[in-house]
Amino acid sequence: MERQRDFFKENEITDRLNTKWMARKTIFLKSTVSTNLDAGKLLDEGGANGTLVVADEQTGGKGRRGRSWVSPPGEAVYMSLALKLDFEPDKASMLTIVMAYAVATALRKVTGLDAGIKWPNDIVVKGRKLCGILTEMNMDGGRIRNVVIGIGINVNQCAFDDEIKETATSVFVEKGQKTDRSVLIGAIMDCFEGLYEQFVKEQDLGFLCDEYNEMLVNRDRHVRVLDPGEEYEGIALGINTAGELIVRKEDASEVCVYAGEVSVRGVYGYV
Ligand code: BTN
Repeated sequence: MERQRDFFKENEITDRLNTKWMARKTIFLKSTVSTNLDAGKLLDEGGANGTLVVADEQTGGKGRRGRSWVSPPGEAVYMSLALKLDFEPDKASMLTIVMAYAVATALRKVTGLDAGIKWPNDIVVKGRKLCGILTEMNMDGGRIRNVVIGIGINVNQCAFDDEIKETATSVFVEKGQKTDRSVLIGAIMDCFEGLYEQFVKEQDLGFLCDEYNEMLVNRDRHVRVLDPGEEYEGIALGINTAGELIVRKEDASEVCVYAGEVSVRGVYGYV
């Protein structure tokens, strides 16, 4: 990984932060394979809890379900937050939900865009994806010890590759004006720190459910649940305190869908 001191300007993010501890240590890289790999390595080597790794470019950016995350330089946010914790394994997906809420809130505040959340953790504007989140964890003795939350945000891109151009968007495409990536990163960390502390204390999402559901673009929509065991359709009602999506099937029964196992598509499109 090639370190770069001045692309994102070392102090640009940290000077603006209002956090107590999160992202107080931030590592800036001009180019790297994947900030998730860097943050994971950092935790393995005893790095500080709450360290943020930010890169201008990724050559092997990772998406969910083994997909890649195209990561050209100069335009987007690629960052990974390294967290040390002690959780039950099923709590990791809730943590991603907390981060999705923080990113959507910060995007609304900084850009004024009407950012929403496609369950569990894609951030969308006008039905197109603006941000993806990939959470990876390390287990020890049946507990989660280390978590890396990787966030990719399309900020200043004017256009996208053919494969994603129908479903992707950026802040620039939506607003027609460039946004300072450092301001956005700082706002996300400011928002996430307090929510994370509350989540660690409460270990469920009762404190955030209503606010999250307000931002949920799938809410009251017809969705198809792609469960490895079966596929079915229904109406998405919102999340419960475990972060599961409650779906009402045609026979009026309600199913709680756990994020780790399945994906949910809109019946009439991506959302
Ligand atoms: C998704 O598929 O929706 C998740 C995409 C996550 C991309 C981010 S970019 C920063 C971090 N580093 C990676 O390699 N992936 C995540």
